[in-house]
Amino acid sequence: MGQIKSALRRQTEGIGARRIYEDLRDQILARTYGTHGVLPSSRSLAGELGVSRSTVTVAYEQLAAEGFIEVRHGARPRVAKSVVGGSKSRAVDALPTHVVPLSEFGKRLRKDPPKWTAPSGHPAVNFRYGDLSPADFPVLAWKKAIIAAVTRRPARLAYDDPSGALRLRTALQGFLWRSRSVRCSVDQIVVVNGSQQGLDLCARLLLDAGDRFVMEDPGYLMASHTFSSTGAAPVPVPVDRDGLQTARLAGIDARLAYVTPSHQYPLGGVLPIARRHELLAWARQRDACVIEDDYDSEYRYDTKPVPPLHALEGGHNVVYLGTVSKTLSPTMRIGYMVVPLALVSAFAAAKQIMDRHTPLAEQEALASMLESGAYDSHMRRVRRRNAERRQTLLDMLRRRFGDRVRIEGAAAGLHLVAWFDDLPQRSEEALVRTARSKGVGIYPISALFDRRRQGRARPDAVGLIMGYSALETRQIDKGCRLLAAAIDEIREQ
Ligand SMILES: Cc1ncc(COP(=O)(O)O)c(C=O)c1O
Repeated sequence: MGQIKSALRRQTEGIGARRIYEDLRDQILARTYGTHGVLPSSRSLAGELGVSRSTVTVAYEQLAAEGFIEVRHGARPRVAKSVVGGSKSRAVDALPTHVVPLSEFGKRLRKDPPKWTAPSGHPAVNFRYGDLSPADFPVLAWKKAIIAAVTRRPARLAYDDPSGALRLRTALQGFLWRSRSVRCSVDQIVVVNGSQQGLDLCARLLLDAGDRFVMEDPGYLMASHTFSSTGAAPVPVPVDRDGLQTARLAGIDARLAYVTPSHQYPLGGVLPIARRHELLAWARQRDACVIEDDYDSEYRYDTKPVPPLHALEGGHNVVYLGTVSKTLSPTMRIGYMVVPLALVSAFAAAKQIMDRHTPLAEQEALASMLESGAYDSHMRRVRRRNAERRQTLLDMLRRRFGDRVRIEGAAAGLHLVAWFDDLPQRSEEALVRTARSKGVGIYPISALFDRRRQGRARPDAVGLIMGYSALETRQIDKGCRLLAAAIDEIREQ
């Protein structure tokens, strides 16, 4: 014991004022504390580092003398307003890029990482799909539900069921039955951190390196990234205006098929019932699994609801995925899956080793919104708002482009695809750049086509995925005007 204590003392003795000064300076430059952010008090930092308070004070005085921080009596030190940091610390810059060899999984991700765009790069009018309007978030209902979940003294503080809180799974079971005709037992429901975690669980449990999986083409890149990360290979199957061309599945051997039958992402088709049966028959013959991503089926405008694949044939080979990312917020990270009974324990075990379970307070809060009817009334409101946004976008596209725009997939969901058939695809990059310079963010659909697919190449026209759920109607109007100006400029070149 005595030995350990003296070893510890030797380690902490090495941290002098100089070292603390240098570390903090690097962190300030790397914006660890943000612009004008607050640093820890000298007392708490000294306690954490196991040094005397005067050592920290010396370091703080040096930082203040060099203009890195502002110190006021009785207040915690702040980063000086004048400090302009870089995006990375010197320490990070100095790191060699590959210190430790990565696993095969790590290498695959490094070679083909999924994209994420920092919000700071966003233009004034952004047609990016996936964002919701903060004005639509049900602040009061969520506040009430989350306060109820966090202010009650919990009955116990222990890890909960990896499949999710029983209360939420019970509420979801009723919700899925009444809104989507999905019949399942509470045991079949697994609450996950967004559908993304559901996809990851499916990848880990259903695919091995060298396997094949069917992807809609064009399709959802995050799904193909996730499945490919296992070392399995995508088999792109083309999509038409009705969704996956199931006739093309004949002869394809694969362990799973990922589909978005309620509103194909991105082209927007609703898979007809005959194709649904054809897909399920294909899966049954091969013992393959169909992953049904029902990501935005809450929004439908001109289409009648078609029963989900899960509701057909008892859902034996189907994993159903749902999310609150399109109804409440993509930042909430709550999704749910319905898995075949025989696979329940494997999914629960995989979820447990991934993160034990989804945070309980949020699960409880969502359960109470579902039980009280607050979720349903929120849905009625956002459905109406999104119907208005969609109509405005359709009207504005018609007004600005007339017959020169062809619209696809607008009957449901929160996005549509606008094709400009007289603009060759090679002008796409210039169009994105010109539009961006005018303050409008547009997203070509070409990125979602699989380059490996033989036969029909990617379309030779510019097609844009236009998300509208984060925009107010006047922004949609302005965005279409700016887009028209950008297109005119490209045509003149
Ligand atoms: C096809 C599809 N599935 C699922 C999601 C939602 O994923 P998550 O629940 O992980 O936020 C999205 C989001 O844009 C999507 O486009």
